[in-house]
Amino acid sequence: MEFQEVVRRRRMVRRYDDRPVEPAVVDRMLANAVRAPSAGYSQGWAFLVLDSAADVDRFWAATTPGDAAPESAWLRGMRTAPVVIVPLSHKDAYLDRYAQPDKGWTDRDEARWPVPYWHVDTGMAALLILQTAVDEGLGACFFGIPPDRTEAFRAAFDVPAAYTPVGAVTVGHRVADAGPSGSPARRGRRTPDEVVHRGRW
Ligand SMILES: Cc1cc2nc3c(=O)[nH]c(=O)nc-3n(C[C@H](O)[C@H](O)[C@H](O)COP(=O)(O)O)c2cc1C
Repeated sequence: MEFQEVVRRRRMVRRYDDRPVEPAVVDRMLANAVRAPSAGYSQGWAFLVLDSAADVDRFWAATTPGDAAPESAWLRGMRTAPVVIVPLSHKDAYLDRYAQPDKGWTDRDEARWPVPYWHVDTGMAALLILQTAVDEGLGACFFGIPPDRTEAFRAAFDVPAAYTPVGAVTVGHRVADAGPSGSPARRGRRTPDEVVHRGRW
C-alpha cells in the first residue's frame, strides 16, 4: 500500500470479525515498531504480545473494573480482537543512557526531561504498529489502560514495576459493516489551517 494511503486509511477500529491474525503479520508489526526513533537511541520500550484467547481474556479481566456493571458496547467490540499488543515504556533505560559519558547527566535528574521521552518514543512505536496493521489490511485501536488497573495488569502478566504500559493496541480483521465510529465522526478532523502557525503564533 502507498504510504499516503496508509496514513489516510488509518482509523481506530473497535470491533473485529472472527478471522485470526497471522503470527507473521504480528511479527512485522513488532519489527516495524522497533524502527521508531528514540531519544539518545535509548530504545526504552518493550511490547507484551497477547495472541491466545486465554491471554486476551486475562488482559480484559485485569484491565476492566470488576464491578457488576453491564459490559459496555465498547468493551464488547474490543473483546472481539484476537490480538492485544501492550507497548510499555522503560524510563530507566533513558536515565541510564543519558548518564553515559557522551550525554553526561550522571545525576539522573528527571527535571532535565521537558517531556517524558520514554512515553513519547513508545507512542511513536505504537503508531508504527497501527500503520503496519493498515498496511496489512487489518484494523487496530490504541486505547488507555485505566490507572487503577495498571497494577492488576502487571500482576496478571508478571510485568516488572519499571515498565509502564502507555496504553494497549487491539489488532484484528475489521468487521465489514463497522462504519464510522468514535469521535472523528462526531467532531470532525481539524485541518492544518486550524492548527498550524507559520513563522510566529
Ligand atoms: C493516547 C491515545 C489514547 C486513546 N485512548 C483511547 C481509549 O481509551 N479508547 C478508545 O476507544 N480510543 C482511544 N483512542 C483513540 C482516539 O479516540 C482516536 O484516535 C481519535 O478519536 C481519532 O480517531 P482515529 O484514530 O480513528 O482517526 C486513543 C488515542 C490516543 C492517541
